[in-house]
Amino acid sequence: MENKIYILDTTLRDGEQVPGCQLNTIEKIELARSLETLGVDIIECGFPASSPGDFNSVVEISKNITEPVVCALSRATESDIDAAKEALHYARRKRIHTGIGTSDTHIRYKFNSSREDIIERAVAAVKYARRFTDDVEFYAEDAGRTENEYLAQVIEAVIKAGATTVNIPDTTGYCTPGEYGQKIKYLVNNVPNIDKAIISTHCHNDLGMATANTLEGILNGARQVEVTMNGIGERAGNTSLEEIAMILKCRNDIPFHTDIKHRNIYKNSRLVSTLMRMPVQPNKAIVGRNAFAHSSGIHQDGVLKNKGSYEIINPVDVGVNDSLIALSARSGRAALKHHYDRLGISLTPDELNAAYEKFLLLADRKKDINDSDLMIIVGVNRNEATRRIRLKFLQVICGKNSVPMATVKLNIDGEICQATASGNGPVDAAFSAVKKLINRKIVVEEFLVQAITRGCDDVGKVHIQIENRGNIYYGFSANTDIVTASVEAFIDAISKFI
Ligand code: KIV
Ligand code: ZN
Repeated sequence: MENKIYILDTTLRDGEQVPGCQLNTIEKIELARSLETLGVDIIECGFPASSPGDFNSVVEISKNITEPVVCALSRATESDIDAAKEALHYARRKRIHTGIGTSDTHIRYKFNSSREDIIERAVAAVKYARRFTDDVEFYAEDAGRTENEYLAQVIEAVIKAGATTVNIPDTTGYCTPGEYGQKIKYLVNNVPNIDKAIISTHCHNDLGMATANTLEGILNGARQVEVTMNGIGERAGNTSLEEIAMILKCRNDIPFHTDIKHRNIYKNSRLVSTLMRMPVQPNKAIVGRNAFAHSSGIHQDGVLKNKGSYEIINPVDVGVNDSLIALSARSGRAALKHHYDRLGISLTPDELNAAYEKFLLLADRKKDINDSDLMIIVGVNRNEATRRIRLKFLQVICGKNSVPMATVKLNIDGEICQATASGNGPVDAAFSAVKKLINRKIVVEEFLVQAITRGCDDVGKVHIQIENRGNIYYGFSANTDIVTASVEAFIDAISKFI
């Protein structure tokens, strides 16, 4: 038996059905192209009969995808299949995915019908779809709760009618892994023409068993899996693409593989999360923020000595730059130094001691210490070197009974220019001087100064939001001199549109 497992990604169909996850056509094309670079075999990209928007997205994705098969969903009706066929017109390789509910609950309550009638409708739909493409997939909705003997009859009939892939969805996520595996095995052993089609899994995660069920499906004869990035999908979601891909990669004792390009996993996960505005839970396997984070001192020490002590996946293999030795108040100097080395910041022993003291104060108050915090602790501002505008000099005069004045010298694209201005305080004066040099209409929308730890020798963090021509730009900086930090943050924000 072939040992490649085909990946049908349904992020753009089952995933996109989730309330709040809707994408516009441009976003769908971007995601479909990214899934192509990930190496998925089939992209299920919509349900064309459901709305003109969905129809149009399938049309545009079909024009933009080269390698993967482009698949459109339909119910078992001629009008749905017509819509799928038309939407797939431009696809280089196309699949119609049609089907009907087969469990007694669906037959009785959804269709008010009989088992015999459902088989007739299924066969008619597959035959009709085969008039437009040789690649027809049939789904037996709620197969998870369909009696095996009847399911085998349905599957035999649709393969005879021309289905080339047969999808066995556990639509409600009710099956246990043992049950689901046995269902696939039953079909392998009891459908006489099963060798003429590929069996597909489609598992939902209502009881947290989607990945386990999918794996059991593979071990019992399925050769296609229907999955989504980050496991998004109806209710508790679908099987996660990244989990199945990494199980098959990591476990050498499971003799199956996918063509997923593992190093693109993390990038795709971030894209889905950002486009769909759906955060990934921090402890999500493979792609969660903490998936490679070691936080206890004992684990950190072990991983720094040998990654294999606590890591079964090299994070680099899924596109995460390095394992995160998570920093907390329990971390030692070795972990802190590891992070500064990673950021390319080399510290003398004295500097490391000073940074460590500040770090502990911060870690007591802030659970999640990130790279920006680390840079702030040692007074390094990100992206400064690459900006077109840089602060060369700043002097302010202020105090009781004096008019605040600021002189600012900027390097703009290599040219030094200087301006002086007054204001209602040193920051206002300095901003006015910068504005004279930039000569754009800029409105400060938000301005926030925070101390990083405590004490008057502390580093101040400045977050700023400015508005220019109706757009909002964000800037950030940190310095022990809060007027300097403010001007740097202002310039950081301005640099985003200049
Ligand atoms: O969960 C399900 O049964 C489905 C089918 C439409 C394939 O998503
Ligand atoms: Zn589904």
